[in-house]
Amino acid sequence: RLLARVDNILKDKQVVITAGGTQEALDPVRYLTNRSSGKMGYALAEAAAERGAQVILIATVKRPVPYGVKLIKVSDTQSMLGAVESYLPGASVFIAAAAVSDFRPVQLAKNKIKKMPGQTSWQLALTLNPDILATVGQAKKPQQVVVGFAAETQNLADNAQKKLASKGADMIVANDVSDQAAGFNSNDNAVILFIKNQSPQTVALADKLVIARKIIDQTMALLASKVL
Ligand code: CTP
Ligand code: CA
Repeated sequence: RLLARVDNILKDKQVVITAGGTQEALDPVRYLTNRSSGKMGYALAEAAAERGAQVILIATVKRPVPYGVKLIKVSDTQSMLGAVESYLPGASVFIAAAAVSDFRPVQLAKNKIKKMPGQTSWQLALTLNPDILATVGQAKKPQQVVVGFAAETQNLADNAQKKLASKGADMIVANDVSDQAAGFNSNDNAVILFIKNQSPQTVALADKLVIARKIIDQTMALLASKVL
């Protein structure tokens, strides 16, 4: 009976997911971004919808939207945070799969920035973006589950453990992005799940939907431990 309840724990629950690399505009025609494809976020949305959740996918990229998923298209970090905060009060789960730009240009030029005669270099001033995951993690209600990612090229376990604590997350999905076969632009991924007071779980290289289903299963177990 308890297992059946865990299996259905996401039915009709709201799950908010961010996906894709943010685009930080510097003028009307240029922006700063990164190599994220958004595939992992879309796969998570599909896996949560398979479990009967009402999924709000807040994404910077347009891909085919799985059944049961509502897409909210955003571009930059500040608008992503605004969308997240508007959907969060009704949500049981928040998953930060977006590759958020840590910094954005200090100024957004109204017109296309021109180079000056003789100019041979340019220092672009950047300012820190809000941390969406930490904002949500630190304000989460006792019955909300918060999941983040950690994209690392070195000291994976150490950095992931630190992010678990500093972001107020229930789980961190750590991703070695130095390996080209996995991560950012690939269809496949290999991850390690870090959960408070549990030993890390390795999820072997597989299709992103297969990985997403494992992440959603763990998320369901965490939600069950809070609400059942
Ligand atoms: N994240 C976020 N808002 C930011 C930066 C990161 O929501 N401004 C989220 C990402 O979506 C991811 C997690 O935080 O779920 C970790 O992102 P990552 O870039 O690995 O870590 P940072 O905390 O930004 O630290 P650093 O880049 O310095 O390693
Ligand atoms: Ca970062």
